Amino acid sequence: EIFLPLRANAKGFDLTHSQTLDAIEAARTPFAAHRWIATPLLAAEVDAAGPTTDVSNPADPEDTPGTVQAATAADVATAFGQAATWSEPLATRRAVLLRAADQMENRYGEIFAVLAREAGKGLPDCVAELREAVDFLRYYAAQATNTPPAGIFSCISPWNFPLAIFCGQVTAALAAGNAVLAKPAEQTPLTAFLAVSILHEAGVPRTALQLLPGGGDVGAMVTSDPRVGGVAFTGSTATALRIRAAMAAHCAPGTPLIAETGGLNAMIVDSTALPEQAVQSIIESAFQSAGQRCSALRCLYVQEDIAESFTEMLIGAMNTLRMGAPWHLSTDVGPVIDDTARKGIADDVEQARADGRILAELTAPTTGTFVAPTLIRVDSITDLQREIFGPVLHLATFKSHELDRVIDTINGTGYGLTFGLHTRIDDRVQHISERIEAGNIYVNRNQIGAIVGSQPFGGEGLSGTGPKAGGPNYLPRFAEPDRETRDG
Ligand code: NAD
Ligand code: ALA
Repeated sequence: EIFLPLRANAKGFDLTHSQTLDAIEAARTPFAAHRWIATPLLAAEVDAAGPTTDVSNPADPEDTPGTVQAATAADVATAFGQAATWSEPLATRRAVLLRAADQMENRYGEIFAVLAREAGKGLPDCVAELREAVDFLRYYAAQATNTPPAGIFSCISPWNFPLAIFCGQVTAALAAGNAVLAKPAEQTPLTAFLAVSILHEAGVPRTALQLLPGGGDVGAMVTSDPRVGGVAFTGSTATALRIRAAMAAHCAPGTPLIAETGGLNAMIVDSTALPEQAVQSIIESAFQSAGQRCSALRCLYVQEDIAESFTEMLIGAMNTLRMGAPWHLSTDVGPVIDDTARKGIADDVEQARADGRILAELTAPTTGTFVAPTLIRVDSITDLQREIFGPVLHLATFKSHELDRVIDTINGTGYGLTFGLHTRIDDRVQHISERIEAGNIYVNRNQIGAIVGSQPFGGEGLSGTGPKAGGPNYLPRFAEPDRETRDG
């Protein structure tokens, strides 16, 4: 009953219908050259004359989708001082969150435009992201209870889901009645500003939701203050560890930290797998969203008996991928988020080239921050030094009798976010699902795109603290911690 509260997932858009596509185009066009702004949105007036910086468009260096005014230390102090938990009745809180969900759906043209121009999102990703954000709003609204809130909740989000993860964290904290300090990723403040504006217009009090754009320095300020009642963080494992240390030094013992972090996600394809199905799943898992999903496939293990023909099929499918601007419907792989990301990934690919390990590589457009989908041969997942956050897939092979050793090696990375398996042997599904240490396991399908309410999402070990987002145990973590836990 709690697992599937009375609500439906957002319908989304059927992109196979030309009428739908025409409607989306008409709704997006007014925002094709629009310039958005992002400033701190506090309960008090903000000095609007602060310094601003341009926000860039990863696909087009000529385009500036807007400007951002980062929060100052004084803004953060004001936000803490003005923050007040959302004390309106539960029915009001629910109604406001549902109104905001409807508003987001209504304003899809503007939302798709800002996601494309600020975050480089293609249309299918824009649709998925809006749906997920709206689903989070309705799911947490349906689950909200009158349990006392934790107090001031700081929500720190990444750029790769600038609407969905931002809204997921913020609206869970709000549904539980907290006062939220939202610190979006420095790369995507415009989407966050738009989302907070919609939430304010729908009726969330400004004292209950304040936006503090900025970088890691602002993130550090909102997570290292004794007034913090809890932190929801999604981003890299390294940053989560920094936040945990800051909270240990500054916050009350037992202050909850919900951290959803990175992964070194693997997939196993055995010799009984349906090759066409497996190839399609791999292409989606590794290259959709230009590989910039925490859930994305990083290391593929293929059984040696089929490796040669299977790799040939996989490379054939890779060669059909089209790279280009996110707003072109024909684009399969858009840009990575910025030039720093592009250079970091390029360094890894160059190292693989020097080692003679490149199996396939497409050609990337030279304007914009594109990285070509690349396939790299490795002996084992342990050859991956870090999570390469882009369209780069590693391929290893295994012999049938090595399966358990492969599972041990994957578990041995310490990460445990997603895992994919393609096999037609039922016992093997059972055996591997029991042994693999990963939060989300997908069998005979892709391993991205968890659906709110149906597939709660989150990892184990270095991949996150849990509880899983979009699942029944998430919201209770935003309530006042059990006094015993806090004191003990
Ligand atoms: P990041 O860790 O660099 O940044 C995330 C957020 O933390 C940003 O808002 C940033 O400004 C802030 N931050 C940086 N330093 C901080 C500090 N010292 N204190 C407080 N906040 C600080 O991550 P990113 O590059 O934006 O995102 C990509 C990473 O996120 C990848 O590792 C990816 O796997 C992970 N991710 C995980 C999930 C999940 O659900 N598990 C989902 C999406 C992304
Ligand atoms: N929830 C996102 C996915 O499953 C990260 O791909």
